[in-house]
Amino acid sequence: MRKQSIVLFAAAAGAVALLASCKPAAESEASSAPTKAPASVATVATAKITFSDLPVPPKPAVTQQLIEHGKAVYVQNCTACHGVKGDGQGAAAAFLMPPPRDFVKANYRMRSTPTSRLPTDGDLFRSISLGMSGTPMPAWKFLLSEDDRWAVVEYLKTLSSRFADPSELRTVVSLGTPPPRSESVVAEGKALYTKLACITCHGEAGRGDGTAAVNLVDESQTKIKPRDFSNPGLFKSGYATKEIVRTILTGFNGTPMVGFHGTISESDAWKVAYFVESLAKPAPAGPLVRLSQNFLVREQLGEPDVRLRLTERAWTYDPAIIRVKKGQIIEVTFEPSDNGLGVGHGFAISGYDEAVFLNGAMVGVPKMVKFRADRAGRFTFYCSTQCSTEKLHPLMNGTFIVEDDAPKQTASLD
Ligand code: HEC
Ligand code: HEC
Repeated sequence: MRKQSIVLFAAAAGAVALLASCKPAAESEASSAPTKAPASVATVATAKITFSDLPVPPKPAVTQQLIEHGKAVYVQNCTACHGVKGDGQGAAAAFLMPPPRDFVKANYRMRSTPTSRLPTDGDLFRSISLGMSGTPMPAWKFLLSEDDRWAVVEYLKTLSSRFADPSELRTVVSLGTPPPRSESVVAEGKALYTKLACITCHGEAGRGDGTAAVNLVDESQTKIKPRDFSNPGLFKSGYATKEIVRTILTGFNGTPMVGFHGTISESDAWKVAYFVESLAKPAPAGPLVRLSQNFLVREQLGEPDVRLRLTERAWTYDPAIIRVKKGQIIEVTFEPSDNGLGVGHGFAISGYDEAVFLNGAMVGVPKMVKFRADRAGRFTFYCSTQCSTEKLHPLMNGTFIVEDDAPKQTASLD
């Protein structure tokens, strides 16, 4: 109909336009160049790099200066969740499930080392870079340069006396050679799944509902659910046979998921992994992008005046300030860069709640909402998925400003 769409320039975000729908422009970790400008790749988290495969660039020399820099990176980016002391008690921790890691106890889950051992430096670099799928832990490769990430790795190590203890071995567990995959090998894997008691926690169909599942807790005494193997998106270290094998052999420290290194052969670990993979539900057919809840409203409003791309990085909105004019039709496409607590993130504007409310936007599954900015003023927008009002979430909110000096938007209001 009338009016062309205009690109909105929101105050806090020069990066809006870049964030658009860019597909992997960069897997720049592979190159040695530090990757500063992070924003433009914030939507790339769907790339299929899993924990073990992330290339680890050489570590800069560990100097006092590097550790000081790591501390600065930590204070700016990590304290809200992990706490000033690194004990997992940050201001946002009470809102997070699972709770943030306690770096003082240093029980790390994603490792290449045996159960109860510390991770290697490379393991820490990888987990920080990739984040943990299905949890609030963001993928920092989109947000911090390689040097920043190495610096924060070294700083994390100072938070626990364990890393200075020479008796703490950090030897890497071999994953062996994958046996050929065949029906009979998968059947052997199935038998091992029962024999090794995977079934008591993860359940017969792998839904995380085994007989022992209800009573499990992690090191912080928080209830923990065994992984649901039917949903590949929820594997914390990414979905690949190799990661399943590594998890089986090394375990997740601080959880009931122990490692079987030394108990079973590597070959058996692969067989169980093949069986675990057979429990995944096939990917849903059809287009990835779902329609928003506001489909009907959108149809009636016609072409928007303003198309805005909103993203979320490390549990803050980008842009954090949206400025429009009264009377404009606004279309917001929201795609977060992580999946929050596993159910994605939302977007709602208080004062516009009936028209602007969406939930469950995920990486690769943006959601869209369209509405008319018919009330002037300053409003708060907030995450409607993690919490029910803007008061509850300390990090995820922003300001929506509707200015009243719009030239008359013609008479075609319906
Ligand atoms: C929005 C909250 C949040 C922020 C910000 C955050 N983390 Fe986390 N982080 C978490 C949560 C929650 C977990 C635990 C996830 C789990 O147990 O599955 C976690 C886990 C981790 C782990 C553990 C990996 C493992 O193998 O166990 C490391 C390392 C880590 N975070 C480092 C960092 C660093 C470094 C920063 C800052 C650059 C940071 N985190 C910022 C929430 C956050
Ligand atoms: C005592 C209970 C228990 C047993 C036995 C157990 N697991 Fe787990 N497993 C868990 C829990 C709890 C988690 C979730 C850990 C988390 O979310 O941090 C988990 C997580 C996993 C994961 C997820 C890794 C990821 O990247 O997210 C895999 C794969 C897995 N288990 C495989 C197995 C297999 C295969 C066996 C048998 C060889 C097994 N588990 C035995 C409790 C158990």
